[in-house]
Amino acid sequence: MVTMNRNKVVIVGTGQVGATAAFGIVTHGLCNELVLIDHFAAKALGEAHDLDDGSEFQDRHVKVRAGDYADCKDADIVVITVGRKPPANSTRLAELGFTVGLVGEVVDNVMASGFDGVIVMVSNPVDVMAWYAWKRSGLPRTQVLGTGTALDTSRLKTIIGEETGLDPRNVGGFVMGEHGDSQFTAWSTVSLGGKPFARFLADNQDRFASVSTAEIEEKTRMRGNEIVAAKGGTNFGIASTVAGIVQTILWDERRIVPVSTLLDGEYGEHDVFLGVPTELRANGANEIVELELNAEEQAKLHHSAELVRSYCEGLL
Ligand SMILES: NC(=O)c1ccc[n+]([C@@H]2O[C@H](COP(=O)([O-])OP(=O)(O)OC[C@H]3O[C@@H](n4cnc5c(N)ncnc54)[C@H](O)[C@@H]3O)[C@@H](O)[C@H]2O)c1
Repeated sequence: MVTMNRNKVVIVGTGQVGATAAFGIVTHGLCNELVLIDHFAAKALGEAHDLDDGSEFQDRHVKVRAGDYADCKDADIVVITVGRKPPANSTRLAELGFTVGLVGEVVDNVMASGFDGVIVMVSNPVDVMAWYAWKRSGLPRTQVLGTGTALDTSRLKTIIGEETGLDPRNVGGFVMGEHGDSQFTAWSTVSLGGKPFARFLADNQDRFASVSTAEIEEKTRMRGNEIVAAKGGTNFGIASTVAGIVQTILWDERRIVPVSTLLDGEYGEHDVFLGVPTELRANGANEIVELELNAEEQAKLHHSAELVRSYCEGLL
C-alpha cells in the first residue's frame, strides 16, 4: 500500500481523457490531493464527487475536488487535457486550430496563479502544444513536457505482445518523433528479452515466421485512429500513460520515458518538442537519451521535426 506523503495534482479539462486520467491517479493513490478544473464547472464537480465516492475501496484516499486556477499556485503538476473528442478520419495536427486558443487561455490562467511546477501537456497536437505552452509560460524547459510517443511506445509493445504471444513488458525500445502520422518505430532500439528484435525473429522462425515489423509499425501508427473509429475517442491508454508520467515525476523515479521534450541540439534538432527517451525526475524532463539511430531513423526524426516546427511557426 502506498503511504508516501505526495501532494497536489491539478487536471484541466475533465472530458473523456481528463476524467479517466483522474481515475488512474486515484486508483494508484499517486498524490494527496487532486483538483479538477473544466470550463464546464458542473462536469468537473460531478467527476470529482464520483471519483471521491470510491474512497472506501481505494488503497489510499486521494482527496478529489473541483477547483479553480488559484489551486495551481502550489500544485506539483498541472495536466492539460482541454480540447475535444477527435473527429473521425482526421489528423492530430488538424486539431491545432481548435486547440491552440484553449491551451493559450489555460496556460495564462495557470501561470497567473504563481504556478512553478511541471506542466504535462496531453491536448493534441501534443508536440506543438507542449512547445507553445513552454514558450507562453516562460517556464524552464524541464518544467513543460508532453505525453509525446509514450503512448505510441506502449502501443508498440502491446502489439508486439499480441503478435508473439509474449508479455509486452518483455519488449524494450521506442517509437519516436511526432505523436502523429510522422512518428516512427526506431527498430534499431527494439529488443525482446534483451535480444535485438530482428535477431529474435530470425532465431525463432518456427514460431514467428508470420510476424512482420512493417505491419507492427503500421498497426502502432494506426491504433489511435482505429479506436477513435470504434468508440469515438481514446481514454484508457492515454490515462495509464498520464498516470505513469505523473507517478514518475511525483515520486522522482527517474524512469526514462519517450515524452515530448525540447530538443536543443540533441539529435541535431533545435527549438522543437518531439517524443524522445527522457529521464523524468521530480523537476520534470531532464537528460535526453541520445540513441545511436541509423541514417534512415535519423532522417525520419528530422522529418517529424520539420513538420512539427512548421506548425509552431506563427503561433506566438
Ligand atoms: N496526447 C495523447 O496521446 C492524446 C490521447 C488522447 C486524446 N488526446 C487529446 O486530449 C484532448 C481531450 O480529448 P477528450 O477526448 O478528453 O475530449 P472531450 O471533449 O471529452 O473533453 C475535453 C474537455 O475539455 C474541456 N475544455 C475545453 N476548453 C476548455 C477550457 N478553455 N478550459 C477548461 N476546460 C476546457 C471541455 O469542457 C471538456 O470537458 C484532445 O485534444 C485529444 O486530441 C491526446
